[in-house]
Amino acid sequence: MTVIAIDGPAAAGKGTLARRLARHLGFAFLDTGALYRAVGLTLLRAGADLDNAAEAARMAADLDLRLLDDDAIRSEDAGSAASRVAAMPGVRTALLDLQRRFAATPPDGLAGAVLDGRDIGTVVCPHADLKIYVTASDETRARRRLAELLAKGQNTDFDTVLADLRARDQRDASRPTAPLVQAADAHLLDTTNSDIETVFQAALTLVERTL
Ligand code: C5P
Repeated sequence: MTVIAIDGPAAAGKGTLARRLARHLGFAFLDTGALYRAVGLTLLRAGADLDNAAEAARMAADLDLRLLDDDAIRSEDAGSAASRVAAMPGVRTALLDLQRRFAATPPDGLAGAVLDGRDIGTVVCPHADLKIYVTASDETRARRRLAELLAKGQNTDFDTVLADLRARDQRDASRPTAPLVQAADAHLLDTTNSDIETVFQAALTLVERTL
């Protein structure tokens, strides 16, 4: 089974890259951030206390996977809630098996899997065949995220999105369990000055060299 791990901070372009690589290679794709977002959204909808780690872990263990297709997980509120519950070790443990099973046995008998997240190369799939760490400047990421949110009709502005991204990065990078960090053997792709086509071609070169 071939596994490609793609990690990086919010809105760096890793989702777009991961999806495209998976389609190109005929691999399965798992957006692991969606799992944490779904847990965050479940807590928000239940009106639960976002600091209640025991309840969050219970909800992660019983997660309704249909939520992965719910547009509501894409809101900034769900993203912020996701990064709060993602700091809880019980939540991470509850989601770990599902992610590892996906990598070991991708659906539909596909020959490989691309997973994107924060800790794929460091914790979920430390033996991945190829690891890519995708990043970009804060401002570039905020601009891209703002465009996405406005296109979806959400009412926000650049400063709000930038502040939210920075808060999320800070929380993701400073948590004790599975923090956001570039794996020692990950290849760095900085997308600040590159469009998706250039990034995709750079990733394909890595694939051809590595797999
Ligand atoms: O990538 P996305 O913005 O959808 O992720 C939402 C949140 O989920 C992140 O801010 C992070 O806290 C958490 N996450 C994580 N580990 C992953 C994927 C996402 O902690 N593998």
